[in-house]
Amino acid sequence: MEKSGLTTSFLLIVFLVSLFQSSNGSALIRQSCMTASKNNPGVNYNFCVSFLEANVKTEPPNITVLTVSTLKLLNSTAANIFSEIAKLLKDPKFSENAKSCLNDCSTLYDDAMTEIEDAERYVETKDFAGANIRVSAAMDASTTCEDQFGEAEEKSPLTNDNSRYYQIGVISLVFVEMCRAAA
Ligand SMILES: *[C@@H]1O[C@H](CO)[C@@H](O)[C@H](O)[C@H]1NC(C)=O
Ligand SMILES: *[C@@H]1O[C@H](CO)[C@@H](O)[C@H](O)[C@H]1NC(C)=O
Repeated sequence: MEKSGLTTSFLLIVFLVSLFQSSNGSALIRQSCMTASKNNPGVNYNFCVSFLEANVKTEPPNITVLTVSTLKLLNSTAANIFSEIAKLLKDPKFSENAKSCLNDCSTLYDDAMTEIEDAERYVETKDFAGANIRVSAAMDASTTCEDQFGEAEEKSPLTNDNSRYYQIGVISLVFVEMCRAAA
């Protein structure tokens, strides 16, 4: 009786500790994703939370730090797409027409990385209007890239990459506005 009572209290403590840790672990991420998805229907709450929880390594103390981390993730997403394009350009299955689209996309993502770097600096110096312009410009890489294939009547091999990047861009943009509101 006493033994099972002890087991029960032990399990209860384990349960409470894990509950506390999980709710504490990423409270800012979940709260920020909730606010962002309410402010902008383009932000998918579930993607926002799972993407950031999986990729933001240290618990951010505030929205500014979370925004800079999100911009770094947007940048590494752009960098991954940029290297993916370099691989696709070597694949003989693509026509010259499709390769010309891929080349345009490569330039777009290369420029986007510069814009994201500027956006990070603007957030750090609290120039949120400047950061907004740079993130918006960086996001255009994905839509303009996708449009290239549409206009050339080629099937885009980057549709999923472009839309995932765009989604991370929308989150970044809404976070920049939340930083502005919090400043
Ligand atoms: C956010 O946290 C960082 C690191 O602790 C700190 O340097 C910065 O001043 C904080 N920013 C705001 C807006 O609270
Ligand atoms: C963006 O990614 C590129 C390629 O990995 C890297 O060279 C650059 O330093 C990154 N910039 C920022 C601001 O994180």
